[in-house]
Amino acid sequence: MSTTAKKQVMLTGIKPTGRPHIGNFLGAIEPGLRRSQKFDRTHFFIADYHALNSLETKNDVSKLTLSVAASWLAAGLDPDKINFYRQSDIPEIFELVTILNNYTPKGWMNKAHAYKAKVDINTKAGKEIDEDINMGLYSYPLLMASDILLFDAGVVPVGKDQMQHIEITRDIAARFNNSFGEIFTLPEYLLEDKVEELPGVDGRKMSKSYDNIIPLFAGSDEWWESIRKIVTDSSPAGGQIKAEDSVVFKIYEAIASEADSNSLRSDLESGTIGWKEAKEKLLEAIEARFSDMSKNYQELITNPDDIKQVLEQGASKVRPLAAAKLTEVKAAIGINS
Ligand code: TRP
Repeated sequence: MSTTAKKQVMLTGIKPTGRPHIGNFLGAIEPGLRRSQKFDRTHFFIADYHALNSLETKNDVSKLTLSVAASWLAAGLDPDKINFYRQSDIPEIFELVTILNNYTPKGWMNKAHAYKAKVDINTKAGKEIDEDINMGLYSYPLLMASDILLFDAGVVPVGKDQMQHIEITRDIAARFNNSFGEIFTLPEYLLEDKVEELPGVDGRKMSKSYDNIIPLFAGSDEWWESIRKIVTDSSPAGGQIKAEDSVVFKIYEAIASEADSNSLRSDLESGTIGWKEAKEKLLEAIEARFSDMSKNYQELITNPDDIKQVLEQGASKVRPLAAAKLTEVKAAIGINS
């Protein structure tokens, strides 16, 4: 490979939310970790400043941050291979925001969907359009652009709701490059849409907001509590049953091996086993796949200093890259040039 070939950088930000569920693992964590192997450099960071715009009162962001960090580490993130850090440990990101503010048309923020959705709600309620909208929400896409552009990320895996932000980032980068030369890499998004395919215990998409999740890190009792709630057809197993139509089978299939899934399918469809046994098999599959991970999580979360150390080391690895980029940007715009 020629030494001048551009390094392929993948980067994504993770908002510090609560405990992950198995849909998060199968739809985002596992594919993210697998995909990272294909890149020269990968950044997974915890976007703690991004969480602030929706927290009006003092909230334990650092606790949530540690729990998200423990989740990814327990799920197999190797901090020697993946740059894993906290956004708030990289001050260069915020310096770049201040710079990009000046080269980003205000109208682009007006079009961002999260902002527009709030304006719509206010308008319908007959309020001032910007009532209860803070600047953090308004300029959210700019902070994201900084996260991405500072590290020359070329590929950014995101959910559907974040696609527009990557498009805005490209526009900001292109506009800046147009004025100042080829400083920024234009990122592409990579859609993660598999999450939607996994149903929760009520049959709708598994989501914390529907209160229908199966937690990723738990023990057998808690897992059984969730599995028990899965809605099943009251007709006896066998005969007309199509395994694919049942939530129990769909979740099982997403977790177990193909051979095990095939055997559960035929057992269900031939009526050899009923729903209760199918649920027990699902529990076994969940235990086999996630018990060790859950133990790792418990171990990590009880040693927060170790997690903090991992994140701090991650930040110190990437800060020289951030500093170099910022120097380049400042020279281009005529500050310290
Ligand atoms: N906004 C993203 C979300 O809500 C999180 C995020 C912050 C992000 N900065 C990022 C994602 C940079 C990708 C790249 O999920």
